Amino acid sequence: MSFPFPRGQNVTEEKMGEDFAKLHVCTRIQVSHAKPLESCDPVVVPIYQTTAYRFKTAAQWSEPNHGSNYCYQRCGNPTTENVEVIINEIEQGQGTLLYSSGLAAGTAVFLEFLDPKSHMICMIPIYSSTFTFFVDTLVRWGAEITFIDVDAEGDNLVQAVEKAMKPNTKLVFCEIFGNPTVSIPDVLGTIEVAHKHNAIYLIDTTFASPYIVQPIKFGADLVLHSCSKYLGGHTDIIGGCVTCRDEANWKRLKSQQLTTGSSMSPFDASLLARGIKTLAIRLDRISDNAVIVAQHLEKHPKVKWVKYPGLESHPGHKYANQMMSKFSGMMAFDVGTSEKATKLVENLRIIVHSISLGGTESKIEHPLSMSHGKQLITKGWLGTIPEGMLRFSIGIENPNDIIADLDQALEKI
Ligand SMILES: Cc1ncc(COP(=O)(O)O)c(C=O)c1O
Repeated sequence: MSFPFPRGQNVTEEKMGEDFAKLHVCTRIQVSHAKPLESCDPVVVPIYQTTAYRFKTAAQWSEPNHGSNYCYQRCGNPTTENVEVIINEIEQGQGTLLYSSGLAAGTAVFLEFLDPKSHMICMIPIYSSTFTFFVDTLVRWGAEITFIDVDAEGDNLVQAVEKAMKPNTKLVFCEIFGNPTVSIPDVLGTIEVAHKHNAIYLIDTTFASPYIVQPIKFGADLVLHSCSKYLGGHTDIIGGCVTCRDEANWKRLKSQQLTTGSSMSPFDASLLARGIKTLAIRLDRISDNAVIVAQHLEKHPKVKWVKYPGLESHPGHKYANQMMSKFSGMMAFDVGTSEKATKLVENLRIIVHSISLGGTESKIEHPLSMSHGKQLITKGWLGTIPEGMLRFSIGIENPNDIIADLDQALEKI
């Protein structure tokens, strides 16, 4: 076996022959480049960190997929498309698109499938910045939104959605477990209503991850994730994705993305691909930990209530059960007052006091002080977020250590 230096592989040198040597060194630096490695088949798709791609002929531009080439990073990139293929496989869709953030993914859908005279039904609670986008931007732009409170409607949610339907209702939107109260809508029931009225059903499944639930199997049209949470899984990237049940919708979003420029960078896509490799084992461990911790908190004298989708005591457990057999790691619990809630988070030693969720480390926050705070309430937030409620994202630590940390902090309030 020999390993010769790849002499003669400088494409420009090959093209120019003897004339190449006459070039000034400044020029040789710019034009020298190795041949693309046609016989190279790496185990992991590398980071294609290039803004643009070389074309052999002008006609190549008009061939399908530019003659099996790419053109410009914003329009498509092998590293990013690799992850789109993987997520599409998990979700069993007809096409996935990656975005620079979960919010970029969400806003792409709202802007594409709504127009100034259309109406959307949005089940709340939802992520605070999604709500802010609705009331600050979508409404100003002319769309009408009806908010329906999942917690307040309970088992009457399907009837409430049916009643709110209008001839111009184009979208029905919910989160699988509403942020931050972890409320659970009747997804199957509301999908049926949406489809009866020819509306598109969009579900944000960030809190569950695509390992726990694949809503396209149950009829959802579009599935949204913040990849910054469970999909990435390591608290080191910001990203989002949308998976489509129909290829036609994927094409609409792809065309839109070419001009709105919201695609994910190849570097982030590479970290995302690495994170997804362990999605299943992380979510198995997280779900197991969450059951143990939720059951412990439910019995704790200083905890008023716990809402974890895997507990039978959760009013929406039956709806979660229709779609999944594990319940991920998001829970909410109430310690009575804002003062007690903030004291608790400030006394934790292992669990991280932080916004965001879905990482390998356990994270906790008091939504009324942070993610769903005063700023949101002044914008007309209609849902109820109890003042002593904490939002808790369970990690992969040993569950006994998580419990011990919670217990010592609960002791202090
Ligand atoms: C349920 C949900 N959807 C969407 C988003 C937005 O995602 P990103 O922060 O990646 O923009 C978040 C962020 O916390 C979220 O919790």
